[in-house]
Formats: sequence, C-alpha cells, structure tokens
Amino acid sequence: MRPFVVRPALRVSGRISLPGDKSITHRAAILSAISCGKTTIKNFPNNLDCLATIVALRKLGVKIEQGISLPSGSGSVIVRSDGLFGLKKPKSPVFVNESGTTIRLLAGLLAGQSFDSRLVCGKALSRRPMRRVCEPLRAMGAVIGSRVTPRLGSTSLTTGRSGQEGYKTGAEEYPPLVITGSVLHGVTYKMPIASAQVKSAILLAGLYARGKTSVIEPVASRDHTERMMKLFGAGIKSKAGKIILTPGKDLVSPQAINVPADISSAVFFVVLATLIPGSLLELTNVSLNPLRAGAIKVLKRMGADITVQRLKQDPPFAEPAGDIFVRGAGLKGTTINKEEIPSLIDELPILMVAAARAGGRTVIKGAQELRFKETDRINAMSYNLKKMGAKLNVRSHTAGVDIIIDGVQALSGAKLKCFGDHRTAMSMCVAGAVARSASVIDDVTCINKSFPGFIKAFKSVV
Ligand code: S3P
Repeated sequence: MRPFVVRPALRVSGRISLPGDKSITHRAAILSAISCGKTTIKNFPNNLDCLATIVALRKLGVKIEQGISLPSGSGSVIVRSDGLFGLKKPKSPVFVNESGTTIRLLAGLLAGQSFDSRLVCGKALSRRPMRRVCEPLRAMGAVIGSRVTPRLGSTSLTTGRSGQEGYKTGAEEYPPLVITGSVLHGVTYKMPIASAQVKSAILLAGLYARGKTSVIEPVASRDHTERMMKLFGAGIKSKAGKIILTPGKDLVSPQAINVPADISSAVFFVVLATLIPGSLLELTNVSLNPLRAGAIKVLKRMGADITVQRLKQDPPFAEPAGDIFVRGAGLKGTTINKEEIPSLIDELPILMVAAARAGGRTVIKGAQELRFKETDRINAMSYNLKKMGAKLNVRSHTAGVDIIIDGVQALSGAKLKCFGDHRTAMSMCVAGAVARSASVIDDVTCINKSFPGFIKAFKSVV
C-alpha cells in the first residue's frame, strides 16, 4: 500500500519529457521479435506492462537486452531475432502479468505457430474479457481454450455483468489462454466494436495465415500496428475503413525505432496545467497519432489553451509527434460523441475530471467500453468524483452508456480510491491538486503499470 496525500496546487510550470508510448512500444517489441536481425528501441518505457512484453518474448526465445533507465523512466532496449519463424516453444507458461495488450496481441502472434503455448496472467487481468479476441482468431482456424468464469475475489467495483454491451450475447471467456499452434487461414473480420488490441491480434495472426486477412472497423481505432508493420516491410494497406494484410513477406528490421512520449500520460499534465490559473507547461516529443489525440481536440473545444509544435516525421509512416505547450484556462462543457471514443478511450477518466471543473454540462456518449478496463472506470471515477462534490450521472440504455457531468466551481478534498487502476489513480492526483482542500489517495502503486515516474514528475511541476 502506498497512500498519497495531494494538496491544492498554486501553479504548475516546467518542461517535462515523459516515457515512451506504451501502445507503440508493445508493437515495436513484438515486431522486432519476429524480424530478422537487431532492432534498438529507444525511449522504451520502464512500466510494468511493457516489461511484461519483454519477459514474455524472452520466454519465447527472443534475445532482449535492457538498457539503463533514464531519469524520464525510459531507456534503450535491443531485440535480436531469427525472423518470422524464429520463436521457440516455451518451456513453461508465458506470464504476461497484468498487461491486457500483451495477452491479446500475443494470443494473435502465437495462434499460428508450430508449437503450443499457454498465456497466464495476474489476478486483475484474469477477470478481463477475452472472447473478443478468441472469437476472430478461431474464425482463422486458431485453437484456443480459456476459462468461462473469471477468477473470484474482485477488489474492483465491477458489477460482475457477463454480457458485453456492443458484443453479441454468448459466454464470456477469461485467461489463462491455452493455445494449440495451428495452421491459420486469412479471413475478413467485421469488428463489432472498435478495439486496437483485437485488430492487432488478428493482424499478427494474419502474418502466419494462408491468404489475405482483412479487418473492417466500425470506427478507426489506433493504427500503431499498421504503421509499425509498414515500417517492418509487411504487406499491409488501409483503405476506406478496411485494413488488408497480405502475408508471405519476411519482416525487415528498421534497425532503430524512436518511441515518442505517451500521449495518454501527457494528458494528465495537460489537464492539470489547464485547470490551474497562471500555469505554463511544456511537454516534449509527445506522440500525436490522430487516432490517439482525441483528448487534445476535445480539451481545445472546451477552451483549453494548448499549442502543438509538430516535429519532423520521417519516414512518412512513422508515428507523428510534437511538443505541447499548455497554459491555464477556463473550460466549458462539451459533448463527446460515440465516434470520438476510440481516439480518447484511455483519457476518459481525466476528461471526466476536466468536465467536473468546466462551466456547464459535458455529455460523454457511448462510454461503455470503460467498464472493461483495469477496473470498471465508470464506477471508479463516479465514486471518487462524487465524493469530491462533482455532479455526475450515468445513463445506461440499449445502445450503451452515457456519462453526464455538470461542472462545479470547486471540488473538495476527500478520501479517494484507485481500485487498482493506474488511470483512476493519476486522474485522482490531478483532481486532488485542483481541489480546494487536501485529499488522500489510498494506494498509488498501481500507477507503475503505465508510468512509474508519475508521482516524481507530478511533484516536479506542481
Ligand atoms: C490499446 C488499446 C485500447 C486501450 C488500451 C491499449 C492498445 O484497448 O484502451 O489501453 O495498445 O492497443 P481496446 O483495444 O480494448 O480498445
């Protein structure tokens, strides 16, 4: 247990470099692990999820050297691989800790191997849904076993619902995943909801399948896998909402990959500086993939004073990045439509904090996917923000879940809970700093999942 006391902040200022983007790093590590030669991944973040991917890939016979962590919480990682068919049968189950991206992407990677494997995980992840990834992989010929009941002993507020809003009814599946290496065939898969993890699992499996694999998304989700596959020379193209992968080409290492700072970590600081008058903050080299940067767009719409200076993008399919400058500004409410959700799904908790302090009403439409993250983030954020005096309502209807927030002049300090969720924890640090009295957050160790240096960076600018 690591409780954290947050006091009202007077001003936020400084210039910070944040660790590399978690989503991009997982893809960089996995594709390096199946492309011939040596790849150096620069600005690799030292968070538990990305380290879980390293540990899992090592278990599959990939040689990985980890550099020393820099003050920013990142370092260089060198991956050496024997190519697309170089993975080795693991001697024991592959442990992915609590990393949802690792388990779902590796399920796709391992489904078409010539060996069997078993993906096991930590307690919280063993309660998260896996049918969304097993189902399309089975349509490609994969043989995957799973649990049909989640592990008991929930520490989260999750209500235990078994159906998934957006998915057809059917029994849910949970880790561990028991994979029998099989011959796969390409498919055209129409995704019921936008999920970059599911899309990526299908594309990774597609590298080992016979024939083309196509994925059709209802709304475009983050395209890091597509960009990274192009960088490694895979036969992949995207056109009018359809991604088509033609297997058969060996992947070629680009030798070095520079991972820009994680926009999902940056947005906590963007909201913090926005909500405190007189603040001025600079965040350097932040990932600005348009399918990830929805929160910046929404905050600007709410009146935030954010300036972005783009950095040179080279080669053309690399990830866009830039420096972000934020000044304190008053916010007004907005409507976040369901089509915008995939571009800001991980930022919804901190956007809820911004909305709680904005003038007028904010409506977040179609937020149901938040129920399936590290905790049920709708319940976790509602619990905390209401304790601080926010006016918040959740409306469930057949098409999904809407969150309605009426901004208040000030939030009050309170005893807050993280529910084991890193993004709830960081959101509550920001909410605590913009409140009028001190708050106590129960246990911030969960922040290590994505950003171990968060508290240090937070203290350095507040
Ligand atoms: C991620 C995709 C998103 C996001 C998660 C990371 C990824 O999940 O919430 O934190 O790296 O692909 P879904 O695919 O479930 O939307």
